[in-house]
Amino acid sequence: MAQAQRTPVTATVPNDLEPFWLPFTANRAFKRRPRLIASAKDMHYITPEGRKLIDGSAGLWCTNAGHNRDPIVAAIQAQAAELDFAPTFQFAHPKAFELAARVASLAPGDLDHVFFCNSGSEAVDTALKIALAFHKVRGEGSRVRLIGRERGYHGVGFGGVAVGGIVSNRKQFGTLLVGVDHLPSTYNREKQAFSIGEPEWGAHLADALDGLVTLHDASTIAAVIVEPMSGSSGVLPPPKGYLERLRAICDKHGILLIFDEVITGYGRLGYAFAAERYGVQPDMITFAKGVTSGSVPMGGVVVRKGVYDAFMQGPEHVIELFHGYTYSAHPLACAAGLATLDLYRAEGLFERARKLEKPWAEAAMGLKGLPNVLDIRAVGLTAGIDLASKPDGVGKRGLEALELGFFEHDVMFRAVGDTIALSPPLIVTESQIGELFRKVAKIIKAVA
Ligand SMILES: Cc1ncc(COP(=O)(O)O)c(C=O)c1O
Repeated sequence: MAQAQRTPVTATVPNDLEPFWLPFTANRAFKRRPRLIASAKDMHYITPEGRKLIDGSAGLWCTNAGHNRDPIVAAIQAQAAELDFAPTFQFAHPKAFELAARVASLAPGDLDHVFFCNSGSEAVDTALKIALAFHKVRGEGSRVRLIGRERGYHGVGFGGVAVGGIVSNRKQFGTLLVGVDHLPSTYNREKQAFSIGEPEWGAHLADALDGLVTLHDASTIAAVIVEPMSGSSGVLPPPKGYLERLRAICDKHGILLIFDEVITGYGRLGYAFAAERYGVQPDMITFAKGVTSGSVPMGGVVVRKGVYDAFMQGPEHVIELFHGYTYSAHPLACAAGLATLDLYRAEGLFERARKLEKPWAEAAMGLKGLPNVLDIRAVGLTAGIDLASKPDGVGKRGLEALELGFFEHDVMFRAVGDTIALSPPLIVTESQIGELFRKVAKIIKAVA
């Protein structure tokens, strides 16, 4: 294995912070006191001043193998020197096939074809388009409705926002897609507070799909998309039996079921995909983030054989799906993906996440009783800690916690409104889990 070449860190604090419009960030607050990261290694981020922060969120739920791992860095470096770019419209390069086979081999059952793109948002829009086109090519073109779920997050494309259920992501952007409906959220604090893993209460909420079928008729519904565990809206594990019930209702009505596994894929819940953890096979799985451990942008959709085969009809010179991205299966992303999957396997990182789940959940639940803690959820290597909002604004306490973590306690995590979301790289040790929750406990007390 080639060694990664390292150069000294060159990042300094920029003179002009103004031109960069940060995504999903309070820009003016950020620019008054920027939180800058210069480099990273394994479990840590390093600031331009050289402060070392423990990464409690795997970047943005993506660096599952840890940061700047040598085999991944070396693979990217070698690939950049060998083949910078090759189109995958009407041409291809070998690593695209190799990675597709590797990704498919991790997915359950006959989920055996992979369409590549560059992000989770693109993966979601791709899956929704495949669902609509699938019904059309089979002569069921009246199936045009897409069903999402309240509090769901499916990225920022128009399709993903339309099926998503986070109001602040939707309200600025007009009518989005028409013909979309939503299942109710699976979260109910009164019935589920402080559950470890999948809550006992709530499987019946899947039956709302039957209600939507009664309202719209099955002949108009193309697909249902859900996150098996909803991460971005604050770590909401599925109630026991919920996903099975959703699968059964979809089967009854000929509706495709899409699992958005952009966060849950690649070990986050202790398995390659959450579909395996829950023993439920969807018709498509979207993935991104962990496929390259965040090192190069990549996303994709794994589809069942029957879905792929439905398109492989008609004259062979005709393009079967008019969809794709210039950078679908980019060589750098494929090289990074192959090295990442090798590393997951070599280090048994999915199994490691499974073994750490219990001590992780126990450490998370240790925060119960601290000031303002309304609920804690822990599943796989994720935790969501809901804090009561301050009287003067939703999200203020969360932002204060995040800032305090970054500037004073050398820890980085996500704040989703007033929920602290944790999802460390899967290489986290038990002692680092202790460190992480000790720091979070101090911060929760400090923002009381
Ligand atoms: C479930 C889910 N789908 C889609 C996305 C969007 O991914 P991206 O930001 O790569 O477009 C995310 C991002 O967090 C996600 O959690």
